[in-house]
Amino acid sequence: MILAIETSCDDTCAAVVNGRRALSNVVHTQAEHARYGGVVPEVASRSHLERIDGVVALALAEAGASLDDVDRIAVTVRPGLVGALLVGVAAAKGLAYARKLPLVPVDHLEGHVAAAYLTDPNLEPPFVALIASGGHTALYSVDGEKKMNLLGETLDDAAGEALDKGARMLGLGFPGGPAISKTSRDGDSARYDFPVGLRDKKNLDFSFSGLKTSLLYKLKALDEEQTSEEMPHLAASYEAAVVEALSRKLLQAADLQQSSTLVVAGGVAANRLLRETLESECKERGLRLIIPPPVLCTDNAAMIGAAALNTSSVPFPDYLNLNARSV
Ligand code: KG4
Ligand code: ZN
Repeated sequence: MILAIETSCDDTCAAVVNGRRALSNVVHTQAEHARYGGVVPEVASRSHLERIDGVVALALAEAGASLDDVDRIAVTVRPGLVGALLVGVAAAKGLAYARKLPLVPVDHLEGHVAAAYLTDPNLEPPFVALIASGGHTALYSVDGEKKMNLLGETLDDAAGEALDKGARMLGLGFPGGPAISKTSRDGDSARYDFPVGLRDKKNLDFSFSGLKTSLLYKLKALDEEQTSEEMPHLAASYEAAVVEALSRKLLQAADLQQSSTLVVAGGVAANRLLRETLESECKERGLRLIIPPPVLCTDNAAMIGAAALNTSSVPFPDYLNLNARSV
């Protein structure tokens, strides 16, 4: 049994994982960042510090387990906000040391991909994976449980970042992805033409910066009343451009790699339009598509526990000088 901890950004998370099964998955989302319109690193660290003990206790309780049942402690060590990561790393070291347990240092991006193993326990590499989150947007060919080969990545903003920035420009609040998705429900996605970065390029890279600029100019041309009337259409058209970029490049990667299994991970994979678009495209092409349920797409510790299954552990007490890294 693995007790996993994740604190790389603004969610304080702990989970208990047994094989490819999550017995609990507790996520405390820090609401205090909303009023700043984005994550404030120092606020995140302090909030993790206040919450981590309670979140770990709850994860054990919900799994019906105690520390006596735990064989290993897993923790995200990179990439992320260093101050935030350090809280999780310190908590994990403390627990592991007190119990003389091994500690497993986990990469957050490997964690996002590993959410797919909890979703479909029969999944085995090779497959193509798209990670789309607030900090990363990249395509990988996954050849072994630990082998992720980069096929392409964003040249500027991450997909989630583009949604967050777009939502801020539209006055929709933070985090922007869910806000845009909610507002776009009654909108016409064909009303506005937003650029799909690198759309016709053969490579597998992404670019989302032109999208923001395009939204800026569209908003400049509208007065306050028009902006409010057009809001659902602006949100729907903007969201559709992000979704088109992601789904196009993922399907292109599947073609190039001749891969019949696709995994989509990261917070943006919680997006309804992206899920629906890929489900229908993959069905048409006869491809197997694995997108974890939304709670396993956004940051959580169960995915870190799942990644720990394929990561070597550091024996007691060699991990005391283990450090967190931002990249
Ligand atoms: O993976 P994640 O929770 O944290 C990072 O590792 O970055 O991803 C957070 C990102 C944010 O940009 C957020 O706006 C986006 O995922 N997101 C969504 C949805 N839920 C979260 N984007 C679109 N639709 C959603 N439903
Ligand atoms: Zn993440």
